[in-house]
Parts: sequence; C-alpha cells; structure tokens
Amino acid sequence: MSAVNIENLVKSFGDLVAVNKVTFEVREGEIYGILGPNGAGKTTTVKCLMGLLDPDTGYSQVYGVNSLDDPIEVKRLVGYVPEEHQLYDSLTPRELFEFVASIRELPEERTNKRIKEMVKALDFAKYFDSMIVTLSAGNKQKTMLIAALLHAPRLLILDEPFAGLDVRTTKIMKDIIRIHVDSGGSVLLSTHIMEVAEGLCDRVGILDDGVLVGQGTLDELRSQAQEEGATLEKLFLKLTEQEEEVQLGVDALREALSE
Ligand SMILES: Nc1ncnc2c1ncn2[C@@H]1O[C@H](COP(=O)(O)OP(=O)(O)O)[C@@H](O)[C@H]1O
Ligand SMILES: [Mg+2]
Repeated sequence: MSAVNIENLVKSFGDLVAVNKVTFEVREGEIYGILGPNGAGKTTTVKCLMGLLDPDTGYSQVYGVNSLDDPIEVKRLVGYVPEEHQLYDSLTPRELFEFVASIRELPEERTNKRIKEMVKALDFAKYFDSMIVTLSAGNKQKTMLIAALLHAPRLLILDEPFAGLDVRTTKIMKDIIRIHVDSGGSVLLSTHIMEVAEGLCDRVGILDDGVLVGQGTLDELRSQAQEEGATLEKLFLKLTEQEEEVQLGVDALREALSE
C-alpha cells in the first residue's frame, strides 16, 4: 500500500487553477519531495491531502484512507508541520505538547518519555519553558516538529521544513527525517530549495504552475530531461523552462553591474 495516493487532483481559487490534474504516490518507506517555485501549488496539494481543502475533482488518500471521507483517521496517521505555524504564542512548548497530547488522548507515560527523548535529541531543553512567542524560527520549527511527532505518526508531512533554519538545525531536521524513515515511516516534504531535495529525497515531483512537469528519482529525471550528470537545480530549470529566462536575467544583471 502507498503512504500517499494523489489522483488527478484539481483545485482552483476563482479563475486560478492552483493544482492542475496532479497525480503521484509516496511509497511506504520513501522520502518524497514536492519541488517547485513559490506559487507552484505545493501547499495547496498538501492541504487537500490533509482534508483542509476540498478539491474540485480528483482525490487523495493516506494509507488508503480518503482525505475527505475520514479526516480524523488521516490526522491520526499523519504528523503535519504546516508552512505557516499556527502556534499558541503565549504557551510554552511544554504546555503546547501537553495540550496536543490531551486532545489526541495519548497515554501520558509513553508520551512524556517520547517528549523527553525528542527534547534531548533536539537540544531543546533550555527552551522547554519559554513562551513560544520568544523563540527563534528554528526553535519554533522544532516545537512544531515535536508536536507533530507526539502521536508516532506513520507519515510525516513537512511543508517547507527548512525555511529560516540555520545550518545546524537543517542538519538536525534532515536527521529526524531519515530516522523517521529508518524506523518504518514515510515522508512527504515540499521545498523550493533544490540542494535540500537533492541529498535527501528518494524521489521528487516537480510542480510548476499547478502542473507536475517531471517526476522520479534524480536519475530518471536526468534521462527525462536528457541531461546527463545534471544537478537537480539544472533539471528543475529545464523542466519548468526557466533556464533561458534565468540566463537572460543573469546577462542583464551582469550588464547593469558592469556599467
Ligand atoms: N486561499 C487562497 N485563495 C486564493 N488563491 C490562493 C489561495 N491559496 C493559494 N492560492 C494561490 O494558489 C497558487 C498556489 O499557491 P500555493 O499552493 O500556496 O503554492 P506554493 O506552496 O507552491 O508556494 C498561488 O498562485 C496562490 O496565490
Ligand atoms: Mg507553500
């Protein structure tokens, strides 16, 4: 069974087709990256998958459970870290975790042990009792991540997980993603940072203007774009046909700066 199945998903906002007939799957045990520039439709796709948005047509499933039929079961299966953090500023991480554990009805002892381990692994103890509003972007991200992992979900969904993170926290985040997969989970992440996807994802889907323009392992994408040895960045630009545009921009910039 796939961790995620997205079939012919379409979602419009008025005249704008934000997600246009997107189909892909995330296999069990895989790290799958949705790549695309800002506005490509990554967040909209993820929100449809989480049952937070109603698609116009098509459907999505998490471990065979339809996002709209059983959103509660989907939320049980998934740990979701949204792009925009909806954190309770005046709570501390400790209070937030207690709150999440209580609404999810998690067993207290096991959950406390889990929190303790994650706080230690993330070197987070000194922020445990600070108000969330006072935390840095990286520490807010860690707070979100711990909250999302409290119920030991099978699938981790991370929307732009590396935005605003320093080198060290990025490394920790990548480690957590790998540990999650090594212990039998699956990961779907979205990013507009190519380098991140390159070393981390087993397969990627490239989204551009709501359309999935390429999909596969890096090697498969290379042969699709007929670019042997190309980096993901180059493939990305080629598949989204931005290569020439970017070059023109660089040329213009060079000219402007040399005057
Ligand atoms: N609630 C909304 N109402 C209107 N337009 C939206 C809404 N959410 C997203 N969009 C538009 O849909 C497109 C895709 O957005 P999004 O899925 O957030 O892209 P990404 O996450 O790849 O940056 C963008 O053009 C965005 O402006
Ligand atoms: Mg987004």
